[in-house]
Formats: sequence, structure tokens, C-alpha cells
Amino acid sequence: MAPFPDFEQPLNPFPRYAAMRDSEPVFQDPDTGVWHVFRYDDVQRVLSEHATFSSRMGGDNPSETGQLFAASLVNTDPPRHRQLRSLVTQAFTPRAVEALAPRISELTDELLEPAVAGGATDLIEQLAYPLPVIVIAELMGIPASDRDRFKLWSDVIVSQTRPGADDSVHTAANREMAEYFMGMIEERRHRPGNDLISALLAAEIDGQKLSPIELLGFCSLLLVAGNETTTNLIGNAVLCFTESPGTAERLVAEPALLPHAIEEVLRYRSPVQSMYRLSAVDTTVRGRTIPAGSPIIAWIGSANRDGEQFPSPDEFDVERSPNRHLAFGQGIHFCLGAPLARLEARIALEAVLSRLPGLAVDPDAQLERMESMIVYGAKQLPVTWQAA
Ligand code: HEM
Repeated sequence: MAPFPDFEQPLNPFPRYAAMRDSEPVFQDPDTGVWHVFRYDDVQRVLSEHATFSSRMGGDNPSETGQLFAASLVNTDPPRHRQLRSLVTQAFTPRAVEALAPRISELTDELLEPAVAGGATDLIEQLAYPLPVIVIAELMGIPASDRDRFKLWSDVIVSQTRPGADDSVHTAANREMAEYFMGMIEERRHRPGNDLISALLAAEIDGQKLSPIELLGFCSLLLVAGNETTTNLIGNAVLCFTESPGTAERLVAEPALLPHAIEEVLRYRSPVQSMYRLSAVDTTVRGRTIPAGSPIIAWIGSANRDGEQFPSPDEFDVERSPNRHLAFGQGIHFCLGAPLARLEARIALEAVLSRLPGLAVDPDAQLERMESMIVYGAKQLPVTWQAA
């Protein structure tokens, strides 16, 4: 078996996952030493058993991006993780997020309107990319006009997870982003507003303020965690709805089904396909001993297609129930932005389905996957519809 992952069929890694679940569900890559787990039960365990599988990224020698995120909650273990998470949970409760709905609808209309009469657009560029960026920028109190720079930085950071990626480009992007956020943080320190950065600046844990590097970690994490992922949820939903006949029409006729359909997109084409951990102690998974200090990749995208958990796993079924997918992770690191991502996807997809009748992906389009082995979705999504 060739080392995992390969990128021969980047938008369709699912047959390869199925083969791995059958033949080598717990696999150590002989070239890199990295362990990979593919079955639902194992992925669930690796993601949630935090005392055994640590989230400290990069171990003792993190890359530059590793250093940037090292102090952020996604890469910390308890007890620090609990403290950091408690600072931001308020901003992301379902209630706090629901209050953003009118603004998200307004933005969706503004972004979609210029394309409606034309009958064709790249839906990623038109809507799926800018919407989450503007929402997160407004939450953080940073100018949405800088969104093209965010796109550049988050693309580069996400592509860092691709084998053979160019390190000098990453280093430059990481530094630029760090300098930008440091400037923003300083500005908010002098002129606090009603935004997340100002709230984090004021927050204290046991009488201690967050360090500048912890603040920077938060900003970078929100930018990367919240954007490309939600972009891909919207894009992947359009792929799923248009490739299974009658689905788009059915969702227009029965809008109450849309939230279920979004859960099925999260399962079927998970925007985050994999997550890293580091074994903190010697441990055994499915009879194989993984020594302490080993890097492990938990394949969420594979777990979500595991036939032992999901009947007919390769069928896209908008009514699937139960649907205990792992697309937002599991346990203490469960995605903080899940209510926001679900809300943005619902509003954006409602608008797309109702305003773009006869929606179809351009049959001549050569879809390419975003350059990442973690984040999954098409780079561009040329679509057509029957314009009035
Ligand atoms: C469809 C969209 C999204 C997907 C699929 C997704 C997926 C995930 C996953 C799998 C994790 C778990 C990481 C782990 O176990 O190590 C996670 C954590 C996280 N996500 Fe999301 N995410 C999405 C959207 C968002 C949004 C919109 C935000 C914020 C605005 C966000 C913020 C975070 C944060 C802060 C964490 C770290 C939580 C912690 O470590 O306690 N995510 N996300």
C-alpha cells in the first residue's frame, strides 16, 4: 500500500479511506512514522481521549505555524484548555450566534444580488468565501475591507498541511498575519470596542491577562478555523445537492429539511477531513501499540463513511437519522464555531436554493480540491441557473 495520503483523486478520497478501513484501519506510514486511524470508533476515541491523545501541535519542535497556534485553545490540553475556552464560549453560544442571523441574511443578499440576473457565477468567489470572512471580521472588530489579505494568509496556512509545501511562502505569510493582528490588538487596547478582541483584552484568568502571544493565537485560530471550513461547507453542500437528482428541488419545497441536509453534507463531504494528535503515553489501538510521543492523524472524513456506524454510508440521504457524524470533532475540543457555521450555511443555502432556480455545477468545469489534506472542498465552483 502506498504511503497515506496520496493526492491522485483529491476530491474523491473516499474509496481510498474505505480500503484503509478494511485492510489497515490503524496504519503507521513507514516513511514518516505518522500513525493514521480510519474507523469511526478509533477516530472518536483519538479525538476525545485527551489524556492519551494530546493536542499539543508539533510536539517540542513546532513549525512556525505551530508556534502561532501553540498558545491557542485548539492546541492546548487541560487545565489551560478549559481556562482559554471559557473566555470565548460566551461569544459563540447558540443564542449569541442566533442574534447574528439578520446581519448574515443581509450580507448574503448583498453578495448574491449582483449575480442573480446573470445565470452563472463562481459560487465560492461570489458567496461562500466572502460571507464567513466578513462575519468573523465583524465579530472580531477588524475591517472587512482587509478580507483579500485574510484569504491569502488562510490559504497559505491551510496549504501548509500539504506535503512539499513551500516553507518560505509560509514563513512570510505567518509573519505578515502576526504583524497585522498585533497592530489590531494594540489599536483595540487603546480604543476598546464592542468586539471579541476587546473582550479578550479585558478578560482575566485567575487575575492574569492573556499574553500577547495567546491573543495572537486566538485571532489566527478564528481566522483559519472559521473561514475556509465554512466556505467549504457551503460549497460542498452545493456539490451534494446538485449531484443527487431532485435534491435541490425537494429542499426548496420542504425548507424544514435543510438543517438535516446540512448535517448530511457535514458527514458526506466533511469540510475538515482530518485532525492531528500526539500520543501522550504508550497506548493500544485495535491491538497495535502506539508509543508515547507518536504523531497521529484521525481521519474524520473516513469515520463519517464507516458502514459500521452509518448504513449505506456512500449514499447522500437528507433524512438520515441518527446522524452522529464527527465533522465538528468530539469531546473537549468540539468545534466552538459549530452553531455559527450551521447558521451561516443555512442562511446562505436557503438564498442560493430559492434565488438560483435550476442550479447546476457547470458540466465543463474541472473541479480542483483546495490545497490541503485537512480542509476539504473545491477551489472554484462554477455554477449556472435559469436567470429570470
Ligand atoms: C463547517 C465549518 C467548521 C468545521 C467543519 C469545523 C471543524 C472543527 C473541528 C473538527 C474541530 C475540532 C478540532 C480538534 O479536535 O482538535 C474544531 C475546533 C474549533 N473550531 Fe471549528 N469548524 C468549523 C467552523 C468554525 C467556525 C465558524 C469557528 C469560529 C468562528 C470555529 C472555531 C473553532 C475553534 C475555536 C475550535 C477549537 C476548539 C477547542 O479546541 O476547544 N470553527 N472545528
